[in-house]
Amino acid sequence: MTEKKTLLRALAGETLPTPPVWLMRQAGRYLPEYRATRAQAGDFLSLCYNPELAAEVTLQPIRRYGFDASILFADILLIPDALGADLWFVTGEGPRLSTITGPEGLAKLKGKDDIHDHLAPVYETVKILASELPKETTLIGFAGAPWTVATYMIAGRGTPDQAPAHKLREEDPATFDALMDLLTAATIEYLSMQVEAGAEVVKIFDSWAGSLKGDAFIRYALEPAKTITQEMKRRFPDLPVIAFPREAGDAYVGFAKAVGADCLAIDTKVDVNWAAKTLQTDGCVQGNLDPKHMITGGEALVSETRRIVDALKGGPHIFNLGHGITPEADPENVHLLLETIRNPD
Ligand code: CP3
Repeated sequence: MTEKKTLLRALAGETLPTPPVWLMRQAGRYLPEYRATRAQAGDFLSLCYNPELAAEVTLQPIRRYGFDASILFADILLIPDALGADLWFVTGEGPRLSTITGPEGLAKLKGKDDIHDHLAPVYETVKILASELPKETTLIGFAGAPWTVATYMIAGRGTPDQAPAHKLREEDPATFDALMDLLTAATIEYLSMQVEAGAEVVKIFDSWAGSLKGDAFIRYALEPAKTITQEMKRRFPDLPVIAFPREAGDAYVGFAKAVGADCLAIDTKVDVNWAAKTLQTDGCVQGNLDPKHMITGGEALVSETRRIVDALKGGPHIFNLGHGITPEADPENVHLLLETIRNPD
């Protein structure tokens, strides 16, 4: 019998002596080998849609560091691209898309079942990874949550306060709700294809959940996460789901249970001792370390890492950052992080 992978054990609720570890954006610009493959691909989107090269950059951090999990190399904005919203990336600035300001913009989009031709290279990447990853490494698939993806589709770019999306949901709720429903349905189809291709876990990134408050949080962050999680579990009963309603604050409490997720990812603002008492009681907790420590390293990185490991050692825990590792991070600091987690004495 093969032993169950450590990440899957933590997701199943086991308390392990050493937490499994991976990093958000672990395949990225801080690695020279990533920069070289990205240059070979031409640009970021060409890399996402090239299965051999996307699999190669996914595998690079696994070879270098031996993380316990590997996350598919892709982007949350590939769904809008597949739905027919123009998408391009401006170097040094970020994504740009055509904007949706009313019913005409929405009417131009394709249906939830029309995305697969466009996304076929992503499913091919997952297949390559499923066959090439080391047997102890868990393969994570992902998608953006409907609210976060909608904020980019409405504004046509990243926004500090998501104002255009808030404006549309208040002034034209029919268009906004129809967009949310389309994204929810398309996300279920997209994630299902990733699982069929070999993804063992899925993670839902709601990076801008923190700008929704009260009833709006329930309606546009919690409810879509619940719909997606429950339908994924109906289709794939053993599939673990990680939810990341970033900067949800007090609304993190009870979130995993309400949506049916196996693991709650927490951002850098969450007090980890509070998380142990109020969130870990519902299942696995992942995240929290400030990515700035991957730039500065040293004693602060070691002590912060120890503090998080220590606070969460009484329950299921996956070590991760509270947000993605940045291009300025020093690759050597990842070795220091892993050494601190895996060889604590
Ligand atoms: O984590 C991983 O290693 C897997 C791949 C992954 C990427 N993006 C690759 C990427 C994942 C899981 C994402 C998620 C994603 N993408 C989110 C949610 C998480 C978060 O960061 O809040 C969001 C909001 C996006 C949208 C996006 N993609 C933005 C705003 C940007 C530009 C900002 C930046 O970091 O440059 C991207 C580009 C992007 N996605 C890069 C990578 C490696 C950098 C592109 C490059 O190589 O130039």
